[in-house]
Amino acid sequence: MCGIVGYVGDGQATPFLLEGLTKLEYRGYDSAGIAVYDGKSIRVEKSVGRLVSLKEKIAGNEPSGMVGIGHTRWATHGRPSDLNAHPHTDCTGDFVVVHNGIIENYMALKEDLIKKGHVFKSETDTEVIAHMMEELYNGDFEATVRDVLNRIDGSYSLVFMSRRDPDRLICTKQDNPLVIGLGEGENFIASDIPAIISRTRRTYILNDGEIAVIRKDSVWVTNREGEPITKKVFEVNWNAEAAEKGGYEHFMLKEIHEQPKAVRDTMSARLAKDDSAVVLDELKWNEDFLNSFHKIFIVACGTAYHAGLVGKYYIERLARIPVECDIASEFRYRSPIIDDCTLTIVISQSGETIDTLAALKEAKRLGSKTLAVTNVVGSSIAREADQVIYTWAGPEIAVASTKAYTTQLIVMFMLALYMAGIRRTLPAARIHELIGKLRQIPAQISETLEDVEPIKTFAKVYGFNEDVFFIGRSLDYDVALEGSLKLKEISYIHAEAYAAGELKHGTLALIVEGIPVIALATQKSVYEKTLSNIKEVKARDAVVIGIAAANDTELEKYVDHVIKVPETDELLIPLLTVVPLQLLAYYAAITRGSDVDKPRNLAKSVTVE
Ligand code: F6R
Repeated sequence: MCGIVGYVGDGQATPFLLEGLTKLEYRGYDSAGIAVYDGKSIRVEKSVGRLVSLKEKIAGNEPSGMVGIGHTRWATHGRPSDLNAHPHTDCTGDFVVVHNGIIENYMALKEDLIKKGHVFKSETDTEVIAHMMEELYNGDFEATVRDVLNRIDGSYSLVFMSRRDPDRLICTKQDNPLVIGLGEGENFIASDIPAIISRTRRTYILNDGEIAVIRKDSVWVTNREGEPITKKVFEVNWNAEAAEKGGYEHFMLKEIHEQPKAVRDTMSARLAKDDSAVVLDELKWNEDFLNSFHKIFIVACGTAYHAGLVGKYYIERLARIPVECDIASEFRYRSPIIDDCTLTIVISQSGETIDTLAALKEAKRLGSKTLAVTNVVGSSIAREADQVIYTWAGPEIAVASTKAYTTQLIVMFMLALYMAGIRRTLPAARIHELIGKLRQIPAQISETLEDVEPIKTFAKVYGFNEDVFFIGRSLDYDVALEGSLKLKEISYIHAEAYAAGELKHGTLALIVEGIPVIALATQKSVYEKTLSNIKEVKARDAVVIGIAAANDTELEKYVDHVIKVPETDELLIPLLTVVPLQLLAYYAAITRGSDVDKPRNLAKSVTVE
């Protein structure tokens, strides 16, 4: 999510920090900051906005010194502002820290530190770490870092700096990337290779739980227990552009592969440790509040609308409140029946889509309570809505949305379970079972991502067809819509998604010999009916690629090829079935030579009506 850099050496730190942050700005750009030890104290400079604002702020008076750290932020806790920008310091200014990730137990730690007299300047989760360093410091920098790490839960890459031990930086990581660049008389730290590639190609890639103490002429790596680790030097042979994409050919592919982490980040801090409940601290709803609604509207555009359709299913099925899901550009012109007994949920990755923003404003004007589900902290939609739940997917750069969709599904599922818990519409045992299954999803997405070879083959064989159909029923139909949108937007193949039972009411006329039909069949209650619809297209000589759960032994008898995804609850399976469809779209686009990350006629954030 955020970008991190660090420098210890014989040269000036600031030029490297700014140069490295420039290379990482694509990862987050709502504020930036640096901290440099000037021989007496640590000078911290930070600024909200793009990196250029920080550069302008310090122009002509750049911090001077040979040890420093820097950060470019993608906000999660606390909106973009000078105060929330990293680096963060303790009360004395002796300990400075930059962080990428989420500290899940920061609230409890913060309350404890406040009781002990610490004064917090920001709304971030990160600041607790700097104050913990101050509180726990025992004269040994490294031992104190270990002590702090033993008390925090979450995902992170962290770099620590101390005025009392100014010759070194200490860094560590858990579920977030961190690399150490090895120079001559200088060493570097970065959350991503592009930041260091112009200075060195010799690196150590840090693994989870490893702690590195970095001086200008040494790098000392140990495990959590303090036992030394001998690292192998990894020589980077990518060019700068490939390095930005983490070695992937396109941002879209990188983002598809980031889904296990994005999904885990979005859910983990919001599930009770004993799996008994979803904990949405940002909402604090109660039964009276939920019972005051006779209807919920979900409003969004494009992929976010498709996530809304799944959300409608979840809320109706689990929390038993009627939901209407609508396309934002239609919603406000159809005079929807909205009053103060309605809740309007808008979903938007960017938080800036004008149609969605306008729909939100209209719902508010008519008296509806409003909730935004968005990926961008401090975005227009986040500011306009009464309440916000953030997806913690990190920046999505490719125009075709992938990890935003899966994290939106996660949020909608957690929201429905949260409501079900409050309204007692589900037995506790079922909530427990579903949360257990939810926790397995990141690993199951990883497993699905490994099975890519057959998809590449289908993309090569069928990628030159001009028409493709997607069919499914119930939740499978919602995923079919998303798969079809993905395919058309980046490969320019004409793709249509149909509710499988609706084909015979007209569309079947288009099914001719050899036309590819992608049929999703994962929902038990409509499984037999879906099979009948598959037989209808097979009878017209379509080529059918079925998508099924791993334990399905039936579908393969009726289709030409089957792609299987790991077994889970049928409510959660859209999180898995969408993955091969994303990959199919990606590889079809590659087959046809289209510009995957910037498809023709489209833009990432649509701010016109
Ligand atoms: C498709 C895609 C678009 C967006 C839509 C809404 O891959 O990315 O359909 O989903 O433009 O954008 P947000 O979610 O930013 O409101």
